[in-house]
Amino acid sequence: MSLKIPKVIGHRGAAAYAPENTLEGIHTAADMGVEWVELDVKLTRDQVPVIFHDETLERTTNGSGKLAETDYEDLKQLEAGSWYGDSFSGIKIPTLEEAIDVLLERGLGLNLEIKPCPGREMETAEAALDVLSQIWDDHDSLLISSFQHVSLEAARDVAGDWKRGLLMPEEWPENWKELADYLGISTMNLNNTGLEREMIEQVIDDLDMPVLVYTVNDPDRARQLQGWGADGFFTDTPDVILENLLSVH
Ligand code: G3P
Ligand code: MG
Repeated sequence: MSLKIPKVIGHRGAAAYAPENTLEGIHTAADMGVEWVELDVKLTRDQVPVIFHDETLERTTNGSGKLAETDYEDLKQLEAGSWYGDSFSGIKIPTLEEAIDVLLERGLGLNLEIKPCPGREMETAEAALDVLSQIWDDHDSLLISSFQHVSLEAARDVAGDWKRGLLMPEEWPENWKELADYLGISTMNLNNTGLEREMIEQVIDDLDMPVLVYTVNDPDRARQLQGWGADGFFTDTPDVILENLLSVH
């Protein structure tokens, strides 16, 4: 089994062109020829895995308050497209299951970022993997990632043969190599901000695994990072990055 990670991964779907983390975003990415998308998963109060980025509802919905304190029945009444543009009004927050159905229908791979609300690191990973394990067969087109080490640990423990990626904040923890080893990860997902050639080279030298960089919307920067050895990019503008990458790498 080997991961088939493409060079270009649509960030939160295709966040520059459709509301983030929605079914419409997945369709938009697929229409652009994107092979994989990155989506964030969190739990509602009643433990339903939904595709959502923030801890609170205000920015991307017409609701308010905390996602972790909202039941799915209430969440599904909310509207998650108008903030982005009138043409997207009426869009709903998808469950993980609904998102997977569209991904499979469109033949896309998935980087699922486990993005737990505070204190729910383990249960978010377990609930998401439980849903995935019932529907997703092709492990070569699935990468589970997280900034949260507890979530990656839980993923390792419940589905050890599924590939995991370690999301690195701008400031790297000192023990990143030990963490990578302990968590048994397959990719390093690095923050674009402040990222330098030496850092990528260090990962390649010390860990010998794919380097993915988030979030890269500038094609010149993508080419620079590619020249330094980066293997793939999370981007809000997948069409632009697809067009501008070097074809051989
Ligand atoms: O997985 C890459 C990227 O999505 C991590 O940051 O905040 O956009 O989820 P964020
Ligand atoms: Mg994310």
